[in-house]
Amino acid sequence: MNSAGYSLSRRLRAVGVLAGAALLSAIWLLWLLGSPPTGGPAPPHTLIILIWHWPFSDRPPELPSNTCISFGVAHCHLSTNHSLLASADAVVFHHRELQTQQARLPLAKRPRGQPWVWVSMESPSHTHGLGRLGGIFNWVLSYRRDSDIFVPYGQLEPHQGPAPPLPAKKRVAAWVVSNFQERQRRVQVYRQLAPHLQVDVFGRANRQPLCANCLLPTVAQYLFYLSFENSQHQDYITEKFWRNALAAGTVPVVLGPPRATYEAFAPADAFVHVDDFSTAQELASFLANMNESHYRRYFAWRDRLRVRLFGDWRERFCAICTHYPHLPRGQVYQDLQGWFQA
Ligand SMILES: *[C@@H]1O[C@H](CO)[C@@H](O)[C@H](O)[C@H]1NC(C)=O
Ligand SMILES: *[C@@H]1O[C@H](CO)[C@@H](O)[C@H](O)[C@H]1NC(C)=O
Repeated sequence: MNSAGYSLSRRLRAVGVLAGAALLSAIWLLWLLGSPPTGGPAPPHTLIILIWHWPFSDRPPELPSNTCISFGVAHCHLSTNHSLLASADAVVFHHRELQTQQARLPLAKRPRGQPWVWVSMESPSHTHGLGRLGGIFNWVLSYRRDSDIFVPYGQLEPHQGPAPPLPAKKRVAAWVVSNFQERQRRVQVYRQLAPHLQVDVFGRANRQPLCANCLLPTVAQYLFYLSFENSQHQDYITEKFWRNALAAGTVPVVLGPPRATYEAFAPADAFVHVDDFSTAQELASFLANMNESHYRRYFAWRDRLRVRLFGDWRERFCAICTHYPHLPRGQVYQDLQGWFQA
C-alpha cells in the first residue's frame, strides 16, 4: 500500500472509532435513563450453603445469619435445614458420614444443576467407599491444593510487630499420638529414633493423654515436636504441623509429603524433614547436637509471619462462598476415587 492509501485507511479507521464511541455513549445514556431511580447495582444475592450432615457430629453448632461475616465472608448463609434442598446454591456432603451411611445422598430430590460439594480433610488412607460416589459431585473441598475449594489446615500470613517470645525449653523432643500401629511409617521412624534421642510420648497410645488446653503449653517446652502424619499423601499436612509445632513455638520434625510440598507452605528453614537424613540415627544426632544459634534460625519466620489455623468447620464452609463466583460450572468428578486416591 502506498503512503496516500495508508493515510486514507487510517482516517477511515479513525472515523469508525469515533462512530463506535458515539454509539457506546448513546447506549450508556439510555441505560442510565432506564435504570431505576434508586440506582446502583442490585444487592448481591446471599448464597445458601446447605450442610447435609455436620462433620463428625449429630449436633451441628448454631448457625446464626452472621456466621460467615464473623469469618470475613459476606452474603453467605450456612444451614443444616434439609428443607432448603430445593433452594440451596450448593449442598455440602462430608465424606465420613457418607462412608458410615449415617447420611445418605438425596439423589432423587436433587434439583437439576445444583452444585454438590464433596468434603474431606482426612487422608486417602482413612477414606473408604469412594468407588460408589463417582459422577455425583461438582466440586471438592479439601486440603489438597488442586481442590476447587482449597482449605489447608493452616497457613502463614504476613505479620508486623514483634514476634511472641519463644517458650523456655526444658526437654528435647515430644510426640503426641493416639493411633499407634506398627504398620504406620511414623511408628517405624519413632522406633528407629527412640534409642538415639530422648522422645517423650504423650497421647492415648501411651496412656499419657493431654487435656485440650494442656497440649500446647506442654509441647512448647520441647525443642522439637514430631509432626508425623498418620499416612503420607499429596499435600496432607495437618494441625500436627501448623498447631502442635509452629503455633506452639517448637520446631517441627516432619514426616509426611516430600520436603518440596512443605516448602510450598512454609519457609525451608522452618522445619526439619525426616527425609533430609539417610538414617534415623543421623537425624537423632543432628537434633541432639544442634547449637543455640542454629536452633534459633528455625524461628526466623516469626519476625514477619504468623500462623493462621483453619480448624473451624464453619470457616471452611464459608470459604465455598468466597470461591463461588469462580468455581467451574458443569464440572463433574466422574472418578472421585481415582482423583483422590491417586
Ligand atoms: C427449615 O426451613 C423451612 C423452610 O424455610 C422452615 O419452614 C423451617 O422452620 C426450618 N426449620 C428449622 C428447624 O429451622
Ligand atoms: C552452630 O552450628 C552451625 C551449624 O552446624 C555451625 O555452622 C556454627 O558454626 C555453630 N556455631 C557455634 C557457635 O558453634
